[in-house]
Amino acid sequence: MKFLDVEKYTPIQKSYEAYLKELVEYCKDTPRHPSYHIHPPCGLVNDPNGLAYFGGKYHVFYQWFPFGPEHGMKHWAHVISEDLVKWEWSDQMLIPDQEYEKNGCYSGNSIEADGKLYLYYTANYKTEQGKIPKQAMAVMNSDGTILKSPNNPIIDEQPEGLIGEIRDPFVFEKEGAYWMLLGGGSTDGQARLILYKSTDLENWVYQGNIELTGIDLELGYMYECPSYIEIDGKDVLFLSLMGRTPMGERFHNEFSSVYFVGELSLEDKTFHVESFDEIDKGFDFYAPQAFYGKDRQPMMFAWLGCGAQELPYAKEDMWIHSLTMPRFLTIKEGKLCQEVPENIKNEYAHLDIDSKRIKPEEDTWYINLTDKQISEIQIGDQEDHLSIKIDWAAGHIVADRSTLKHQFSTEYGIQREVSMSEELKNIEIYYDNTFIEIYLNDGKDTMTLRAFPENVEINLI
Ligand code: FRU
Repeated sequence: MKFLDVEKYTPIQKSYEAYLKELVEYCKDTPRHPSYHIHPPCGLVNDPNGLAYFGGKYHVFYQWFPFGPEHGMKHWAHVISEDLVKWEWSDQMLIPDQEYEKNGCYSGNSIEADGKLYLYYTANYKTEQGKIPKQAMAVMNSDGTILKSPNNPIIDEQPEGLIGEIRDPFVFEKEGAYWMLLGGGSTDGQARLILYKSTDLENWVYQGNIELTGIDLELGYMYECPSYIEIDGKDVLFLSLMGRTPMGERFHNEFSSVYFVGELSLEDKTFHVESFDEIDKGFDFYAPQAFYGKDRQPMMFAWLGCGAQELPYAKEDMWIHSLTMPRFLTIKEGKLCQEVPENIKNEYAHLDIDSKRIKPEEDTWYINLTDKQISEIQIGDQEDHLSIKIDWAAGHIVADRSTLKHQFSTEYGIQREVSMSEELKNIEIYYDNTFIEIYLNDGKDTMTLRAFPENVEINLI
């Protein structure tokens, strides 16, 4: 279908309704839809936003450019679910139709207070001299309607020494007050984690920067998408890093997301790091956001994609990317562990490993490998496959995309590896029609990636 040549910063509006309807119908017929990964009806998805369990349902918003498979004017699309399996589209979304957000409703999170869900986002505002940081708020009422605050932008200042790219508000409650984290960078090229405080969720006072203590690690020139959650009595911080260079097995993607386990002191404005790691070791993972699910269960979603990738088929499919599946989070010996909710796992066709060559009948399948005689899994046939090489005793795994016919993002390398600090006991693979999530030792490490083998079969070597 023909790409509607709209100006990059065009919001959804009446005159495009017919085109978008046609585009959604066109996208429905494209063959690469995942079943259990939230993906757009058309256009591009990137970061998960505003994640919440609110009014007995899960709400997921996401960064959405509706008109085609590329980055452009970002909206907050909105889907709702009771069980994390079936998601329903909601027309209650954020459309960037105000002057203060003329270049998009960028990422942010949500927090529940007095029966309402408060949504925070960056009102992207470009000028010829650069960006002017503006943060905005919208409120979802118990009847599900969403209204932007008449006081927007609720933060409209540029603290000294920081660049104009201050974004991705993450609001949480702690010690009787509300706090907002923002990502940004200093004018001298250092990534910065910025802190604001509020007592009423609407008026915010700048507090300065939170420093990471206890580590000596260069973290790039800018943070995006900060996220904070308490898990098993520990403070956990997520940061998505721009400008971080590769270090051993880590940080090979265009941008990387890292978790820090430790202690947050809002009074001292420090986060004391006890342990940290890249959150996911695959090729296509970025911008995770943590939140509390049902019964205050720590969870997260991330973007199953990264940067400005050009993927096979995207141009003809007219839609691109997905979110990861939701993951339950725990901390074991300082490590962030990630697990797929059991009810989602049960939806996949569980394949029996009774031969060396398995031909799945479904587009969506799951295997759990424990056989230590197997040293390689190939997804695809001999000429065109994703290779996963395994050293069970050393706890070492290499995912290699060089043997696939469809190559992409090769400028960031063709292999990703994980060296675990223990021997490998099991490898779970969720294959959801080209969207792949790999869990090692029940989620002590994960690798998330896309691969487009034309003939989907599994060969065990
Ligand atoms: C991360 C990011 C955010 C920004 C959003 C825009 O992928 O760049 O920092 O708010 O995407 O879509």
